[in-house]
Amino acid sequence: MQVRIPDIDFATVPIHWAPNPEFAQSYNAFSTVPAHIEPYLVKVMMAARKVLDKKHEQLHKEIDIFIRQEVQHCKLHQTFNKHLVDKGYACMLPIEAEYKADYERFLKTKSLRFNIAYSEGFESMGCAAAQVFFEDLDDFLEGSDQRAADMWRWHLAEEFEHRSVCYDLYKKMYGNGLFSWLYRLYGFVTAMKHIGGHTRRLAEVMIAKDREGMSEAELQASELRLNAYRNRVKKASLKRLKQVLSPFYDPARRVPSPGMAELLARYS
Ligand SMILES: [Fe+2]
Ligand SMILES: [Fe+2]
Repeated sequence: MQVRIPDIDFATVPIHWAPNPEFAQSYNAFSTVPAHIEPYLVKVMMAARKVLDKKHEQLHKEIDIFIRQEVQHCKLHQTFNKHLVDKGYACMLPIEAEYKADYERFLKTKSLRFNIAYSEGFESMGCAAAQVFFEDLDDFLEGSDQRAADMWRWHLAEEFEHRSVCYDLYKKMYGNGLFSWLYRLYGFVTAMKHIGGHTRRLAEVMIAKDREGMSEAELQASELRLNAYRNRVKKASLKRLKQVLSPFYDPARRVPSPGMAELLARYS
């Protein structure tokens, strides 16, 4: 694990950076997740390392790199998201503000155990999303703008790389018993519903803006493209997310997708 800082200039990246514009807008909506969840993850990790026994030296080191990776992810996505707002998508801002406030509330009112379980829920979604992006979306990514696609490749490959950190932290702090497993599932389901609800709502607003002034035929074509993307991601994600439910789930056993190592080497 290491920190990599790609230098990507988004100034001329089109909003619809892939041939399927609804696919691009769905990922543009996802891009608001790291902008708000990752500062939260950093705060959760900083609180956790204060109470994690010093004897877990390796995990402490990994948490440090995890924090530094998430800070870079957040920064680059914030730059990309500002580009979206500047190009006419100020409609994102009120939905983002509500989403950001949720994390402030979690930090203020929820237990460390909840916040770590929620963080692990997000991380297990992230490493599944990385495999989906690298393995199941080639036809959607063909002909896309390389700068936007590489932002996602870099981020998701690093999500895959640090996939065990939150999981190991959760296990070290809360053990392997039945309640520990059930509470991990609770964190996962809460994260899925919360993050999935936010991104779906935001994507719908952004796509609705794109649909203003479309003819009936254009609207139908847009609907078909959105469904094609959603069906693909749903199918590709479900088989991986189902594994997270198992009491024997361990992200370390997930196999890196072809192309991840080369991509990370490019930015190392
Ligand atoms: Fe990240
Ligand atoms: Fe992460």
